[in-house]
Order: sequence, then C-alpha cells, then structure tokens
Amino acid sequence: MANPARRSGLSRFGAALAWAGCVACQAEPSERAELLTEQAAPAGYRALPLAQLAPLASPLSEARAELGRRLFYDKRLSRTGQVACSSCHQQAHAFSDVAFVSSGVEARTGTRNTPALINLAWGVTFFWDGRAASLEEQVTQPIENPLEMDLSLGEALARLASDPVYVSAFNAAFDGGPASVETLQQALASFLRVLVSGTSPYDRHLRGDDADFGPAAQRGEILFNSDQAACSHCHPVGPLTNNGYFSNGTYIAGGDPGRQGITGLTGDLGKFKVPTLRNVALSAPYMHDGSLATLSDVIEQYARGGRGDPTTDPQIIPLSLTDEDKADLLAFLSALTDDRFLNDPRYGP
Ligand code: HEC
Ligand code: HEC
Repeated sequence: MANPARRSGLSRFGAALAWAGCVACQAEPSERAELLTEQAAPAGYRALPLAQLAPLASPLSEARAELGRRLFYDKRLSRTGQVACSSCHQQAHAFSDVAFVSSGVEARTGTRNTPALINLAWGVTFFWDGRAASLEEQVTQPIENPLEMDLSLGEALARLASDPVYVSAFNAAFDGGPASVETLQQALASFLRVLVSGTSPYDRHLRGDDADFGPAAQRGEILFNSDQAACSHCHPVGPLTNNGYFSNGTYIAGGDPGRQGITGLTGDLGKFKVPTLRNVALSAPYMHDGSLATLSDVIEQYARGGRGDPTTDPQIIPLSLTDEDKADLLAFLSALTDDRFLNDPRYGP
C-alpha cells in the first residue's frame, strides 16, 4: 500500500496521530479518520486516542495539523515579518530556545525562558503561570504580545486572506470560509497537539527494553523516584510532570511572582508550572527565568535544597548526594532524549 505522505504530501502527521507503534502509517487517506481513534500515548500517559485529547470544539485532523505547522514556521505572523513561532521554539531544542530569554520583534526580550513544547495534548494549563486554559487560548497570545510577534489578529487574518495557499488550506481544513481568529487558533493548537514524544530510551525502558538504558540511568531513575530525592512527586513516571504549580526553590524575593500573578493568592508566590523533563538535555537553559545553564547546575541547586527562600516547597530539602549520585541523575535525565522527535521531518519547516 502506498504511503500517502509520499503520494499526497498531506499525510505528514498520520503516524503521529496514530502514534502507537505506527500501526497505521501506511493507511490510505480514506482511513485517516480512523487514524485519529488509534491509541496514541507515550509510555506512562493517559492512554486516550490523541484525537480524543483535543476539545470537542476543536477536533484534530490531518489538514488542521498540517496547516498549523505551516503557520508555526511563518514569519508573516509577526509585525516585522522576522519572527515566527519557530524562532523561539526550535525543534532541535525540543521546541525551546538556547537563549535565557528569547528575542521577539526588534530584538525585544521578555522575562521568561521559552519552554519546550512536548506532549501538550495531555497538558492542562499553559504558560509558566498557567494563565491559558487551553492551547486555543494560548496560541494567539504570542502573536499579539508586543515583546514577541507584535501583530494584531486583524492584520494576521488580512495577511492570511491575501495568500491563496492559505485561503485554500483554511478552506480544506475548516470546510470553507475565510480564516478567522477561531480557525487560526484551532490550526495552531492542532499542530501543537501532534508534537508527541514517546520514543526515548526511557520510553523503551518503561516498555521493558533496556538496551539503551544503562546501569547509570537505571540507578539515576531509582534515585529520582525515591522518597529521599522526591523528584517523582512533581515529575511522576511517564509524563514527568504532574501539571501542578510548585516553588522548587528557584524563586528569590522580588523575582517573578509566577502563579501568584494570576491567582493573587499569597500561597502561590514563586510557584511555576512543573515542566515535563522529556528531552530536557536539549532544552537548556533551565527554569522559568533560564537562570540555570546546565543540568549539572540544576542538580546542584536541588542538592542544596533550593536557594533558601521561604516560599520553597517543603519537599525540596538539602540532599546528601555523592558525585556518583549526581552522575547517575544526569545519566537518567539524558536518557529522556527522543532523537526521533527532535529530528522528525514532519515537525520541520
Ligand atoms: C519571542 C519568542 C517566542 C515566540 C515568537 C513564540 N513563543 Fe511561545 N513561548 C515563549 C515564552 C517565553 C513562553 C513562556 C511565557 C510565559 O510562560 O509567560 C512561551 C510559551 C509557549 C507555550 C506554553 C507551553 C507550556 O508548556 O505551557 C506554547 C504552547 C507556545 N509558547 C506556543 C507558541 C506558538 C504557537 C507561537 C507562535 C504563534 C509562539 N509560541 C511564539 C516564547 C515565544
Ligand atoms: C515540589 C515539586 C518538585 C520537586 C520535588 C522537583 N521538582 Fe523539578 N521542577 C519543579 C518546578 C515547579 C520546576 C520549574 C521551576 C521554575 O521554573 O522556577 C522544575 C524544574 C526542573 C527542571 C528544569 C526543567 C526545565 O525545562 O527548565 C529539572 C531538570 C528538574 N526540575 C529536575 C528535578 C529533579 C532531578 C528533582 C529531584 C532532585 C526535581 N526536579 C524535584 C518542581 C519540582
């Protein structure tokens, strides 16, 4: 059976949508509706078909994900025509950025580190402070943000309406009608939902294959999951995030208030959304402010029990880690790298 990706160029995401084992990679376009009902969960995730993780009002489809990909790489979504989503969210870095804080239009900088974009279909809230309740709500914020892309949504839609390629792609993906704020949001969110990473040595280990998960990574995993280090309390097995908000000891007095800026609650001062650690070896620098340059710096900060601010979560306490323990933790974190995800051409420009 011919691979529709090669034949029509449309089926870029068939395999990501039908994630598990690539069962349906070879499916004909007419079978694509079924691809979306295949089990699609990396090891340890809620095993719902990816399509069912999308809101009912924003159903996932091949055409929408592909249109979202095009938009993600398009610099015309910035006022100056020089910044795309992909300028800050780079595939080789798990869709994060090597800068402490990224540059938007005219090299303007914000105050937060660009997070990696991984397995967001299972996400609950978005941004470091969780201020967006859905990906649809999230995606238009960077376009309008004066420090990022600085383009009004009206102008964004006008630019899309003047490009026949987009006119027909929106038509095909959304059954007619010109692009609207809603369909722009749904297309970008659809692309974000197919960014599924589940083929790291860690995933294979969770499925029982330790060929690439050596003794150091195994010792590191035991330490990571131990009550002593408590890492898995916030970064649980599989997703490596509990989607909650915690102060892990990075906040210092006078810094970014994090979650408190949204809820206004005193108890939320210095709390940030727990990031997944998948592909973390590629997403340096670390933490909401990019203040830690390397994973070794991260491990040292946890070993010290944070930076000493009283907001620090009680689970973050000084750990007596030997040099071997630290090397083992690093080996474990390095086994979370999913080369297929980082190099998958379907996610590329
Ligand atoms: C100038 C750099 C920059 C650009 C351009 C940019 N982003 Fe981001 N992105 C960030 C930063 C920084 C954050 C974190 C901001 C915060 O938490 O307040 C972020 C957060 C996100 C998140 C939240 C991830 C999570 O785990 O909560 C998503 C999703 C996202 N961006 C998608 C996009 C999309 C889609 C575009 C294009 C429409 C885009 N970004 C453009 C820098 C950028
Ligand atoms: C109480 C919850 C909690 C515990 C326990 C915890 N973390 Fe975290 N972790 C977080 C939060 C929250 C962040 C983001 C904090 C910020 O940006 O200020 C984070 C960030 C990280 C990062 C940086 C990820 C990135 O993309 O920037 C790494 C790596 C990490 N943790 C590893 C660990 C390890 C290893 C342990 C155990 C020694 C651990 N964590 C224990 C909550 C926790």
